[in-house]
Amino acid sequence: MDGSPIKTLVSLDNGTDEMAVRAALPQDNTIQLVGLLRGAKESWATLQESPTDLLVVACTGYSERVLSLIGATAREHPTLPVVVLVQSSPDGFLTRLFEAGADDVIRLPESPERVRFMIQKVVARRRASATGSDASQSPLICVLGPKGGVGKTVTTANLAVALAQAGKRVAIVDLDVQFGDLALCLGVRPDTTIHDLATSPGSLDAEKLEAYLMTHEESGVRVLVAPTRPDQASGITVEFLREIYAILRTTHDFVLVDGAPGFTPDVIAAIDSSSHSLILSMLDTLSLKNARLGLETLELMGYDPGAVKFVLNRANSRVGISDEDIAAIVGRPADFRIPSDVEITRSVNEGRPIVLSRPKSDAAQAFVKLAQQFAGPTVEDEVPHEETVPQPRRRLLPRRT
Ligand SMILES: Nc1ncnc2c1ncn2[C@@H]1O[C@H](COP(=O)(O)OP(=O)(O)OP(=O)(O)O)[C@@H](O)[C@H]1O
Ligand SMILES: [Mg+2]
Repeated sequence: MDGSPIKTLVSLDNGTDEMAVRAALPQDNTIQLVGLLRGAKESWATLQESPTDLLVVACTGYSERVLSLIGATAREHPTLPVVVLVQSSPDGFLTRLFEAGADDVIRLPESPERVRFMIQKVVARRRASATGSDASQSPLICVLGPKGGVGKTVTTANLAVALAQAGKRVAIVDLDVQFGDLALCLGVRPDTTIHDLATSPGSLDAEKLEAYLMTHEESGVRVLVAPTRPDQASGITVEFLREIYAILRTTHDFVLVDGAPGFTPDVIAAIDSSSHSLILSMLDTLSLKNARLGLETLELMGYDPGAVKFVLNRANSRVGISDEDIAAIVGRPADFRIPSDVEITRSVNEGRPIVLSRPKSDAAQAFVKLAQQFAGPTVEDEVPHEETVPQPRRRLLPRRT
């Protein structure tokens, strides 16, 4: 840490005791208040205008406004650390806070010394990870399912098309270099594959990579197709894949990686290069247990828990597994649910993702919602309007010495 005060914006949710929050903040020059504001909307506006190193959100207990503010911040300012001060934390709220993107949660009352330590820890961790990966790079989303056949390819294809429909430039890498079927699922002809790229002469750069990407005509999604024969997988190294990810993250708005089953070195390298992961599971005990294993593996790798989403595929199947069972087996509830739909199988056979072939179906809508989680609807939609109680005007505090 460079020693300069941490520019901190404090957002007080309705009903929060300002004095209690002030009493918990470090009184030395660890932090410099950018503002101490009431209400998510005011805080959000200030966040857009003022350089800020840390967002502190204070609330009395469960608050949708707080979750929305944190969610919007995590999406629009992914490098900004968020610490939550809560006066009480009802069941499940803590998990929701972390899922929304909070870096740490501190229960009040707490001593300013301890709060200072936690703030410094969170900011130092974020700065360390920001220097490890270029924050200006586009998101790379790894679609994982430790068990085969859970819907990774279907999800990747539909998420990619939904993101493209939201106006994003999207590239997909089919990481299943032995049995990849993403091209089939999208109806893209594999004229050139990752094998052709790997065996082509000369060094790799953006222009060359561009020439080897196939285009999904209907959506504009670009695809780096898997080899057409399993024996062609051997020349594709982890280093080569890392180079591909780094280039695609500068030339596209989103990069998606359709993972192979299991935690192969290729998959681990993709996770390592990623900004977000989806862990997919279906509604059977084996697949759920594997999802848990996947989540634990990510945790062991030091992966930011807020950047992992647990997606339940074929979620409406009636197989006698309740939400409680799911949470008990996996250790957390599902963040997203994709219903079972026979049209998905048909869409795979036709090579046309369901978001295009049946856009109004529940399954297509679920993929669109998933895409919105990344591309975002407008932030205005996300941060709910405050109650009609008049709020004090935004107050920017002078620099503290
Ligand atoms: N929500 C769903 N509703 C109906 N069928 C589905 C659904 N999701 C997946 N399927 C069916 O399951 C099949 C397998 O899905 P998919 O190929 O996406 O799994 P995968 O995890 O990529 O498998 P692999 O590990 O072999 O790569 C699909 O071809 C499709 O027919
Ligand atoms: Mg697959």
